[in-house]
Amino acid sequence: MAKRAGFATRIGAIAASVGSAVGLGNIWRFPYEAGENGGGAFILVYVLFVLVLGIPVMLSEFIIGRSTHKSMMGALRELMPGSRVHWFTLVCIAGSVITLSFYSVVCGWVCEYLYLSLTGQLTGHSVQEYGGIFSTFVASPWRCLGWTWLFLAVNFVVMLGGVQRGIERMSRVLMPLLFLLLIVFMVNSLTMPGSAQGLKFIFTPDFGKLTFEGVLDALGQAFMSLSLGVACMVTYASYFQDNSSLIKDAGVVAMLDTLVAIMAGIVIFPAVFSFGLAPEAGPKLVFEVLPSIFQQMSGGAVWCVLFFLLLLFASLTSTISLSEISIAFAIEERGASRNRATLWCAVVVVAIATLCALSFNVLDQVKILGRDIFTLLNDASANVFMPLGGLFTATLVGWFLDRRVVRGQLEQGDTLSRRLSPCVVWCLRYVAPAAIVLIFLHYTGVL
Ligand code: PHE
Repeated sequence: MAKRAGFATRIGAIAASVGSAVGLGNIWRFPYEAGENGGGAFILVYVLFVLVLGIPVMLSEFIIGRSTHKSMMGALRELMPGSRVHWFTLVCIAGSVITLSFYSVVCGWVCEYLYLSLTGQLTGHSVQEYGGIFSTFVASPWRCLGWTWLFLAVNFVVMLGGVQRGIERMSRVLMPLLFLLLIVFMVNSLTMPGSAQGLKFIFTPDFGKLTFEGVLDALGQAFMSLSLGVACMVTYASYFQDNSSLIKDAGVVAMLDTLVAIMAGIVIFPAVFSFGLAPEAGPKLVFEVLPSIFQQMSGGAVWCVLFFLLLLFASLTSTISLSEISIAFAIEERGASRNRATLWCAVVVVAIATLCALSFNVLDQVKILGRDIFTLLNDASANVFMPLGGLFTATLVGWFLDRRVVRGQLEQGDTLSRRLSPCVVWCLRYVAPAAIVLIFLHYTGVL
């Protein structure tokens, strides 16, 4: 089989992985999860999970992808010949499709806010009115659907044209810009009256406020934010060059991703307390708070447009990586053409995303396991599919893969990697599987 084209540079490989990792997970989901789960203690547990579970699980995906230069199913077939483990890929695909479906609804919200800010409708309101703007918007089925469909259309046209790499290249300029913007907003939030209370909320852990469900949420959030458990990083690593240090690359991706999430927290919470809003507002939190923040900045209207535009771009690089999983599967395993594969993926995702968008209005009475459809899929992807995928790759690489392959991959690059490699293997064999299983068992009431 011809060797696949790789990322030309190490930076290219890291940038694509960061592009996948940084998105709504950091800027929308992290603040509201932290807000719902009491702030500081949640964030501390989250960072701990990134270090002891996130980075090792990311490495397990990197090892599977780079040692075979194939995406998940082909890679598993090559690494574990004669077994049936490659079928686990289907679970990853289900996870990625579900994630893409609810995620694109939130991308639709960002589109609406970009539109509102471009047309000047997002300025000149009170904090309470911004809450009303969000509620009125999500209550309107056609508006929600329209933006979700439009976003998905752009996403799948990008996939169809095979121009993902072009988008990823552009993101190398736009992502740092988003980062800079967050720094400006952070400085602004820190100078707000009452900002100390917000900082106290995120940096002073109060474990009395963290429930066990909050611990599972932190686990799910770590996996969601780092794009783990759905074989996404396997696919990206299949394009990595053979001689770079995987440990360093995973460390850089995890660090940047966590930094962006914490920065988003520092932007949001001082403002939440300064405006007297509730930190536990849930998914609408940042959509209510951000416009109020821009409102009191000089040149706020311009900041607002710029921010939602960049956020949309960051989200697009995440949805591209999510779409790639099932499209690559259909092409490589089912022999579909790129067009057919993209079309099928689009049909399924649009159908599920439609249900998600309608769960705020027409279908708001439909409850499954006590949750509306959007919340169900949001919870299922982060708290079930992703940790399950992580459990699978960690166990596979920790226990079943040829030790020489694992060591060879982990020790490539530099002496630091050689030193850290046993530590990573230990996390993959014991810490990650034990932690995920224990949290699952506790959550389901077995323990
Ligand atoms: N990590 C992305 C985010 O935080 C979401 C994502 C999950 C992307 C899984 C790819 C795979 O926005």
